[in-house]
Order: sequence, then structure tokens, then C-alpha cells
Amino acid sequence: MKDKDCFKQDRKHLVISKIRSGTVIDHIPPGMALLVLKILGISPGSKEAVSMAMNVPSSKMGKKDIVKVEGKFISDEELNRISLIAPEATINLVEDFEITRKFAVELPEVVEKIISCPNQNCISNSKEPINSRFKIFVVGKKVTAKCDYCGKKITNLEEYI
Ligand code: CTP
Ligand code: ZN
Repeated sequence: MKDKDCFKQDRKHLVISKIRSGTVIDHIPPGMALLVLKILGISPGSKEAVSMAMNVPSSKMGKKDIVKVEGKFISDEELNRISLIAPEATINLVEDFEITRKFAVELPEVVEKIISCPNQNCISNSKEPINSRFKIFVVGKKVTAKCDYCGKKITNLEEYI
């Protein structure tokens, strides 16, 4: 079977089923799948059928997470936000069981709402109805986000999503 770096299907292993139609997010760093769901706004109460695997063996990454969202084509803009915590993630859009588009996520230049500023005095943390806004850039190999309001820089983005 083609899913070689997922689970082998034999008496002892399960596969995560292929999806008929929707979005597969593959090559997520191990342990980050729940944050990927959060970035995509999938939470208790969401109606989508979601399957995922965490810490499964991967030939490319050693271990990885995978998220599959059945019946939903997520926009490129939303998917690219995943790169904040999963820069190597690959997106597979599936229609009638076939992959119709495969692409790598790209870092957005600006993200609104999903990162909270660690500076408690920042206007984005005040009672004003102001969405957080961060500029994204890469320093060395590290993804860095800089608050558009107070200038605070963060590199450990997973802690503020
Ligand atoms: N997939 C799925 N449902 C489908 C088709 C594919 O859930 N109908 C999933 C596969 O399980 C896999 C991902 O989409 O997790 C990519 O599938 P494929 O390109 O066939 O696998 P690889 O060749 O291993 O992908 P890559 O080259 O991106 O590692
Ligand atoms: Zn700020």
C-alpha cells in the first residue's frame, strides 16, 4: 500500500482510513496535531469528521502527526497558518478518493487573531476590540513573530497559539 510511512496494514496495525473528499495535512511535527486543529478552528462542537494520528512512524521525519478533515476544503490562507508550527507540512486536497492537489505550506507575512501577544500591556490584550496582528519572518532558521502593536518578538509560537 502507498501509505508506507503511516501504518502498515496487517493483523497488528490499523490504518487511518483514506478520505473521500476533503483535506489531509501530512508531515506535521510529532505532537503538534492538536495545535493544527486549533489553528484551523476545529474544536469540540465542530461538525467535521476529523481523523488524526500522533507520533506515527515516518521515513522522512522519524515520527509525525497527520490530520484528515473529511468533507471540507480549507482555504490556502488558513492552511498556510499551519506553517507557523509545522513548516514542513504538506497539504493534500482529495476529491473522490484521488489527490487533486498537493502543496507545501508557506509562511504568511502577517497573521491576525491566532497568536496572543505575551505582553500583558499590549493593546491587543486590552478590553478594546482589537485583534492581535503579528508580522512573520525567519531569523536564521527560526520562525519569528513580531507584534504589530507593541513590537514584542516571539519564537516559541506554539506557546501563544
Ligand atoms: N490520503 C487520504 N485519502 C485519500 C488519498 C490520500 O487520506 N483518498 C492521504 C494518505 O493517507 C497520505 C496523504 O494523503 O497520508 C498523502 O497521500 P500520498 O500522496 O498517496 O502519499 P505519499 O506518496 O506518501 O505522500 P508524500 O509524497 O507527500 O509523502
Ligand atoms: Zn503586542
